[in-house]
Amino acid sequence: MSNLGLGVQADITRDRYISTDFMQLEADHVWAKVWNIGAWAAEIPDPGDYVTHQLGLDSILMVRQQDGAVKAFHNVCTHRGNRLVYADIGTSEQFNCSYHGWQFALDGELTWVQDAEDFPRGNPCGVLNLPEIQCEVWAGFVWYNMDADCEPLADFLGEIKDVLDRYDMDNMVRINYMVAEVPCNWKSIHDNFCESYHLPTTHPELSEFFDDDYKNTIFELYDTGHNLMKMKGAVPSKRDDAPDAVNEPLAAELTEWGLNPEDFEGRAGEARAEIQQQKRAMGVARGYAYFEKMFDEQLTDPFHMNLFPGTSITAQATTVGMQRAEPHPTDPNKCIYENWTMVAPGDGIVRIPNTPGVEQPMVEADREEVIYGQTSLGFIPDQDLQVACGQQLGFQSRGFEGAYLTGQESRIQQFHDRINAFIQSGLDAVKAAE
Ligand code: FES
Ligand SMILES: [Fe+2]
Repeated sequence: MSNLGLGVQADITRDRYISTDFMQLEADHVWAKVWNIGAWAAEIPDPGDYVTHQLGLDSILMVRQQDGAVKAFHNVCTHRGNRLVYADIGTSEQFNCSYHGWQFALDGELTWVQDAEDFPRGNPCGVLNLPEIQCEVWAGFVWYNMDADCEPLADFLGEIKDVLDRYDMDNMVRINYMVAEVPCNWKSIHDNFCESYHLPTTHPELSEFFDDDYKNTIFELYDTGHNLMKMKGAVPSKRDDAPDAVNEPLAAELTEWGLNPEDFEGRAGEARAEIQQQKRAMGVARGYAYFEKMFDEQLTDPFHMNLFPGTSITAQATTVGMQRAEPHPTDPNKCIYENWTMVAPGDGIVRIPNTPGVEQPMVEADREEVIYGQTSLGFIPDQDLQVACGQQLGFQSRGFEGAYLTGQESRIQQFHDRINAFIQSGLDAVKAAE
């Protein structure tokens, strides 16, 4: 193994993106030790509803219990290791292994085996139950952690919990759920989520509605390894051709909230504060009672949170986007990318931020697995994924030594340092146990 840069300040070398050794270290010491999102709770509303999620080589089974709680298990039969449930989602009264027919109850208990008297070590019923793992439901997500000794979810989330609690996540509807295998390492995508340096070049369109200048943007890096970027919204960037003019998306947002775009001609920068006031005044009547617990900034600005290790949440007043990249089971040059969009039901009208008037049914979306490159995963995500895949080609080049970061890319450094800290403490623990 070459030097994988496990120092405190990680060298962000190409090995980290293409090495199967490093991929294995991440699987053992990062992914198996953190809280991950396994499902959207609304997709398993009733007892017996279940969903499975594949993370690398691990499959997790999450099941709604009779008492309304959700339990999570490793999706494996305790007899001789057959995969227990193959479906992505379903409803069942119990789980029957397809090999020798062992039966497990919804709570994971082994309730029936063939020839129960024929086990020299004793009848396994009630003993060899499904391996249960930590599971919590919060903010509409089902979270799981494979580490039996993990900290509570609230401690893992830290400051992020308070920010996201102010949105009405539990009542949101997931209107978009897309999945694709993408030809890049999962970290290429998360690196991209961790910096806004690429906005003017990769997403020039955003300058119409967001002040994408890093000098006007707040970056908060937390000890938990998560981070938060607050970029001003409902205001054209000073980089925009006409920053004081009311452009189309801003006019649409003003109109949506009962303001006259003409009143803001030549002073577009003042629209943001007035939209915030207007949302406060009109929000409750439109079904957004939770606006009352939000900061003013949350009413207009995207709060962009990166949750260690691979999840990115962009929260706007009535819409929350979740994108994530998780490792491919075997190939470090690939990952599994997901794009979810959740909206607050409000008065039943889907308000996609800064594109008012776009109508979309307010129904829970089914999982849509698409082939990368053939089907769009969203206008902005397509732009990000394209550069992440271009980078992966560069990581495979002997000519690339490692990243050279700007100050505003410090969240990338934090991300890689956190990975190193997890791997180092995992390796230390293995050594101590020897
Ligand atoms: S492996 Fe499941 S019953 Fe034998
Ligand atoms: Fe981007």
